[in-house]
Amino acid sequence: MMNQEETVPCVDMKVKELENQINLNDEKLTSIMHKMLNEMKKGLGKSTNDQAKVKMIPSYVASLPDGTEKGSFLALDLGGTNFRVLLVEIMDRNEHNNKPNIRMDSQIYRMPKDVITGEGEKLFDHIASCMADFLKRLSLLDKKLPVGFTFSFPCKQHGLDHADLITWTKGFSADGVVGQDVVTMLREAIDRRGEFDCNIIAVVNDTVGTMMSCAHEFPDCQVGLIVGTGSNACYMEKLSNIELLEDSTGDMCINMEWGAFGDDGILNEFRNEFDVHVDENSLNRGKQLYEKMISGMYMGEIVRLALCKLAKDGVIFNGITNGPLFKPGSFETSYVSQIESVVSSGMTAVQNILANLELGALRSDCEVVIRVCQAVSRRAAHLCAAGIAAIAHKIKQNQPENDDLKITVGVDGTVYKKHPTFSKIMAEKVEHLCQGTGVKVEFALSYDGSGKGAALITAVAHRMAQLANADR
Ligand code: BGC
Repeated sequence: MMNQEETVPCVDMKVKELENQINLNDEKLTSIMHKMLNEMKKGLGKSTNDQAKVKMIPSYVASLPDGTEKGSFLALDLGGTNFRVLLVEIMDRNEHNNKPNIRMDSQIYRMPKDVITGEGEKLFDHIASCMADFLKRLSLLDKKLPVGFTFSFPCKQHGLDHADLITWTKGFSADGVVGQDVVTMLREAIDRRGEFDCNIIAVVNDTVGTMMSCAHEFPDCQVGLIVGTGSNACYMEKLSNIELLEDSTGDMCINMEWGAFGDDGILNEFRNEFDVHVDENSLNRGKQLYEKMISGMYMGEIVRLALCKLAKDGVIFNGITNGPLFKPGSFETSYVSQIESVVSSGMTAVQNILANLELGALRSDCEVVIRVCQAVSRRAAHLCAAGIAAIAHKIKQNQPENDDLKITVGVDGTVYKKHPTFSKIMAEKVEHLCQGTGVKVEFALSYDGSGKGAALITAVAHRMAQLANADR
């Protein structure tokens, strides 16, 4: 039997070992950043796009809002467990401070599991029925509103209102949608219903909406980032570098779909046993490997697996080998944010959270749990930082003459918003990885990119179409 003094150093050693297994040092992060930069170039190249895992999808969003857009728009937001319908009214800017003046009303509808994993047609019928309900409540059933559809999954776009689903992510698996144009599927569902009509003008990734919504307030915002259930980024790229398109003047927003980074094995040296386990037990095995190391859908599960290992090794929870902690998915990502948030108020708060999992945690157990949560969330923030730093390097390469480049990244997503230190850790690491490049990266919380951003994109498209008509 070990006495107390011998056990404590042994616990510490085991936890340190685990932290080292999770942690990615600066050398590794720099290497990941360079790999991401290479992948981006591969994705942009005409002859290399086929082999690239980071698909660098042209979004057909080329113009940022100029402040003159106005009108009423319907925005739809599908990308997680909820579906939202919004009415967005963009009015004249505030004449005193020139701030945007936007009014919104919205409703959230749950997406039941059998709908997101069932028949594709049924999924779109469900969306159409939620739209009908919303329009009815606002007495707008007879108005033909312009619609911006935020559809936050990887799609190949052929235009602003055409998007073929490449693959589902984040627990969605509805049949018969991959390879199809989701705008056509939605239009057909609305026609089948026959209760209202609308004009779907734009299909938008949530990163793009987030960037747009932020750019409405900060004109130098040219990057959008989501760290929520999933993770992804977009940025403004020079059209002359987007070899898949013919046009060569001006800029276009690229939806990177960075979640798929590493799907060719390029990140294997940085993945640990928990990452491998998470992937092997997921709906989309072998796919979205970078996303699985970062986003909210997986963060709690990585922590859970690490805690199970420590429990089995007798380091915590008196060596338990069964109970709710051993049930996949039981350690929610929100616990990670909560635990790291309440740390400062003492261990009782942490013990209360762990009681959700029927874990009778001693002070020493709580200390270990906190360290594991911190290691996993810190690594996620660092990985995101490597990706953002790669984007910053790319934008700098596009503008070598700009010695004083400042980039604002518009960010949204539950992990970024709810975790107490994620944003700070990410910003510090980005600064470190950009040292010596002359680029300064700033972050701004983006408010409702999927609603406001999508409406703005729809409004810009509307304005451009009207201009084009006037020119004719
Ligand atoms: C999807 C992206 C989306 C991201 C954040 C990923 O799983 O592939 O399209 O932007 O999640 O919602």
